[in-house]
Amino acid sequence: MLKEIHEQPQSIVDAYRGRLLASKGIIKMGSVDNNISRFLNANRIVIVACGTSWHAGLVAEYLFEDLARIPVEVEYASEFRYRNPIINKDDIVIAISQSGETADTLAAIKLAKSKGAFVFGVCNVVGSSIARETDTGAYTHAGPEIGVASTKAFTTQITVLALIALKLGNLKGELSNSMYNHYIQEMSLIPAKVEEVLKMDTEIEKIAAIYKDAPNCLYLGRGFNFPVALEGALKLKEISYIHAEGYPAAEMKHGPIALIDEHMPVIVIATKKGHYDKVVSNIQEIKARNGKIIAIVTKGDTIVREMADHVIEIPETEEAFTPLLSTIPLQLLSYYIAVMRGCNVDQPRNLAKSVTVE
Ligand code: AGP
Repeated sequence: MLKEIHEQPQSIVDAYRGRLLASKGIIKMGSVDNNISRFLNANRIVIVACGTSWHAGLVAEYLFEDLARIPVEVEYASEFRYRNPIINKDDIVIAISQSGETADTLAAIKLAKSKGAFVFGVCNVVGSSIARETDTGAYTHAGPEIGVASTKAFTTQITVLALIALKLGNLKGELSNSMYNHYIQEMSLIPAKVEEVLKMDTEIEKIAAIYKDAPNCLYLGRGFNFPVALEGALKLKEISYIHAEGYPAAEMKHGPIALIDEHMPVIVIATKKGHYDKVVSNIQEIKARNGKIIAIVTKGDTIVREMADHVIEIPETEEAFTPLLSTIPLQLLSYYIAVMRGCNVDQPRNLAKSVTVE
């Protein structure tokens, strides 16, 4: 898992190689280009996936809505397949899967196709069942992911989905050429920024040593970083067996705040832009109840530093791309906590790499 976490600068490059043409300021994706009128005329995008891939789908919801103004619904494939979902001919279904073999996602694809939908796959494993079953799609090119806990698959899924959203945003006239070009240039800087975050390894290991025996953890984030909070909690649960919950930060006051006391570590993604001020007031509420705060902040932040027990800095980027950076410290934190608890991080109990049964 540690190897795969550290491969992310390279796997993100592999995900956009040949697609993100930074010097020309364009994004080229055969499977999108060949179906461009379908994409541009889509009434809505329905995303189906499970687990971490579902979290990538949630990030994509923010990306497609924000950058391309296309309405999106993100569905657990396991729920979608047993409902009687309303699919119209102008909807596009995007199925996301690392393995390409997840039974629920495969069944959701078959159902969507039976209703006449055009299904686009975002898969890692070349030639997998989902890659074959979908009408077309884009591989993430993350390379083999062996650790049961998904890491580089998540960031490469987001990379590919961001490219599609940017391209559609520009073609739909929602993103001016200069903004489009700006995003393209910014995306090309992401691998180096991920590298920078990975250098915080030792600092994160020290934080892990303090919280390794916590029975519970709460993860909070807003906007693009709400799915990252869910993903951070899932990572911790999967490999360390610590109970963890992810929440949109503003939902804290509707329940989880009752859990906060001096024994509760709260991991808050409080990067600049977006809803920074609101997240800062959530941090104050946690502080007032003596919760322990581990904050992921933008480099140079001084406000949160004053309040949090620990801060982990990530480089500044466009808000839409922050999940690619903010997720890295959460992967490392889970990894070190699990190792310190003596857990088998690569093959956690009760879990399989691909869930090919219901
Ligand atoms: C991720 O850490 C999990 N092991 C799990 O949630 C996984 O993402 C889920 O089973 C979906 O798998 P897929 O991407 O291969 O379809």
